[in-house]
Amino acid sequence: MGDQPILVTGGAGFIGSNFILRWLASEASPVVNLDKLTYAGNLGNLESIATHPRYVFVHGDICDRKLVCDLLQRHRPWAVVHFAAESHVDRSIHGPDDFVRTNVNGTFSLLEEVRSYLAEMPPEEKTVFRFLHVSTDEVYGSLAPDDPPFSETTPYAPNSPYAASKAASDHLVRAYRHTYNVPVLTTNCSNNYGPYQFPEKLIPLTILRAVQGKPIPVYGDGKNVRDWLFVEDHCEAILTVLARGKVGETYNVGGRNEMPNLDIVNQICGILDELRPSDAVMPHKQLITFVQDRPGHDRRYAMNADKIERELNWRPRETFASGIRKTIQWYLAHEKWIQEITSGDYRQWIAAQYSV
Ligand code: NAD
Ligand code: TYD
Repeated sequence: MGDQPILVTGGAGFIGSNFILRWLASEASPVVNLDKLTYAGNLGNLESIATHPRYVFVHGDICDRKLVCDLLQRHRPWAVVHFAAESHVDRSIHGPDDFVRTNVNGTFSLLEEVRSYLAEMPPEEKTVFRFLHVSTDEVYGSLAPDDPPFSETTPYAPNSPYAASKAASDHLVRAYRHTYNVPVLTTNCSNNYGPYQFPEKLIPLTILRAVQGKPIPVYGDGKNVRDWLFVEDHCEAILTVLARGKVGETYNVGGRNEMPNLDIVNQICGILDELRPSDAVMPHKQLITFVQDRPGHDRRYAMNADKIERELNWRPRETFASGIRKTIQWYLAHEKWIQEITSGDYRQWIAAQYSV
């Protein structure tokens, strides 16, 4: 692979930035990061490597075919790791257009340009090249309480515009392998949490609102279940699949860590009671407020990660107890990051969504 880089899309977002930091710390290839810098993209996440000799940032849209074509020709990456997406279910309910545009058309644009790039590639480079598509457990729909967790063969049944747009992108990726022999890999991961997550998602939103003494919104009865994975474990899984995954295969990634939302929120409040006993509202759980449920709210997600564990020997390193404590400590220590991210669009979103 020599000096050939990897092309990361959406590397200024939550998981993408964790991935780039992890990559540059251990891997030899340079990184080209293509990101549109939507409300969810933040170059502050990558401040520590902004001038790294093996890192290049490109401000642009994955839907811009000419730009993608130029980047592939100029940098000649040996892999594309595709994170760029609109990722928040609630936003997809309010405005699905951007989800179809970026998640479906954007993935299509990348696949088309990669297909042309491969057509001109010398055979020895072609055997190395990979297109790794980062997807979600939400494509599988919702589980009943006693159903077995989702496996790689569970039929797709997406329920939100977000999940449907990711399912469509997964299908395109699969079709490009089947029809054009593009060497693809797909990972479907459960809910992530950890440093640099935009505070519109449950865990960072709960931490911030608890610290601010503001109501913590819990949808419906708080008994919806998600399977939580620390973001660094997800990044490790992506590295593993890129290095050793079998072309054309999909790998489910999860923490075997199913928990109802109310338990998550209570645990965060308990840790904050210990770390911030002088906050105005104590105990923090007094702030928990049940609000109107999300339309079409999936009841339960759970992942069967046997395949990646068995075939690629990946295992999560963090337990939820250790990961959530690290995450809370990270948010408490990064006030500047929070101040920068919680201006403008963020305030408008919180006001419109929660009226509190
Ligand atoms: P995020 O919303 O934090 O970041 C998305 C990034 O993509 C941002 O930097 C944004 O600027 C960029 N982006 C958006 N539209 C773009 C476009 N048209 N062109 C270029 N860049 C664009 O998302 P995340 O939570 O980091 O998720 C990353 C990927 O992982 C997504 O594909 C998501 O579906 C998947 N995923 C997320 C989770 C989770 O719990 N967050 C779980 C499983 C899978
Ligand atoms: P979220 O972080 O939006 O992830 P996803 O919908 O992709 O799983 O939400 C996680 C769970 O938390 C989900 O069941 C919805 C719920 N939730 C709340 O109860 N309150 C909130 O304010 C948010 C953002 C989510």
